[in-house]
Amino acid sequence: MAKRSEAELLQAALEAGTTEHYRDAALYDHEYQRRRDDVRFYRALAAERALGSTKKGDHDVLELGCGSGRLLLPLVRDGFSVTGVDLSKEMLRRCRERLQHAGRAAAARATLHAGDFRALAIGRCFPLVVCPFNAFMHLYTRRDAERFLAGVRAHLAPGGVFAFDIMNPDLSWLSRDSNKRWARTRFRHPKTGQRMIYTTNLIYDAALQIAFMRIYYQPEAGGRERVVHLTHRYFFPLELEALLHYNGFVVERHDGDFDGSALATESEEQVVRCRLRRPLRR
Ligand SMILES: C[S@@+](CC[C@H](N)C(=O)[O-])C[C@H]1O[C@@H](n2cnc3c(N)ncnc32)[C@H](O)[C@@H]1O
Repeated sequence: MAKRSEAELLQAALEAGTTEHYRDAALYDHEYQRRRDDVRFYRALAAERALGSTKKGDHDVLELGCGSGRLLLPLVRDGFSVTGVDLSKEMLRRCRERLQHAGRAAAARATLHAGDFRALAIGRCFPLVVCPFNAFMHLYTRRDAERFLAGVRAHLAPGGVFAFDIMNPDLSWLSRDSNKRWARTRFRHPKTGQRMIYTTNLIYDAALQIAFMRIYYQPEAGGRERVVHLTHRYFFPLELEALLHYNGFVVERHDGDFDGSALATESEEQVVRCRLRRPLRR
């Protein structure tokens, strides 16, 4: 068999890191069930955007990387019409299953598209576009980010808001010993009931600004350990602002948490809210 080039190996690692973590969508939902601050933030933002309006379309939201519906479901329950886009068929299947239990009226307000958010073509504009919970960190290269942002520009209504959140680079976490296991947690698999031990570590490539994470699932009773890859491109705050500026956006807020705290060294999050800058000036 022909040896794979470095570029091919990198491509394969990025593909694995974009898909493997989302294959077990029930486990994903279980792992992040306590993550509520972001859901509260996006629900409040959607409510603020639509406040008092009865105009058709003012309650429409485009969610990029909607996954299993962790945010999409609360939004449709709140009365918003949400168009969700995601690459993972497993996450979308789970989202559809969950919508079946959301009530007919709420489910009817959801439209799901399987697809790549770097090549968006929904064919209409939205007053609010969101990309929650690090989905933006799957944009590994400048080209990925520019294609994504061109799609957001094309789908944002005049005066519309684009909001997203990503992790603030934590250099001490990124430089931890990659031969050790971190964040050891015991849990029970939500579907199989199997008792598992979760650990993780990562290799951070500082030139690419990509963290290649490995998540280990070890059955407590023994047996084969499963390794799941997850890759995240890190964006430093000023780099992110420059990227948004040169791609036609005005950053209105760039906070360090969902409660509006200022971005600071110790902030775990970067929560960004921006609008289109017209005309596009360079
Ligand atoms: C961390 S999950 C967030 C899911 C959901 N928004 C939430 O808050 O739970 C990131 C999602 O982005 C999706 N994703 C990653 N790269 C993508 C791409 N290029 N196009 C569309 N979806 C993508 C993944 O499949 C995954 O469902």
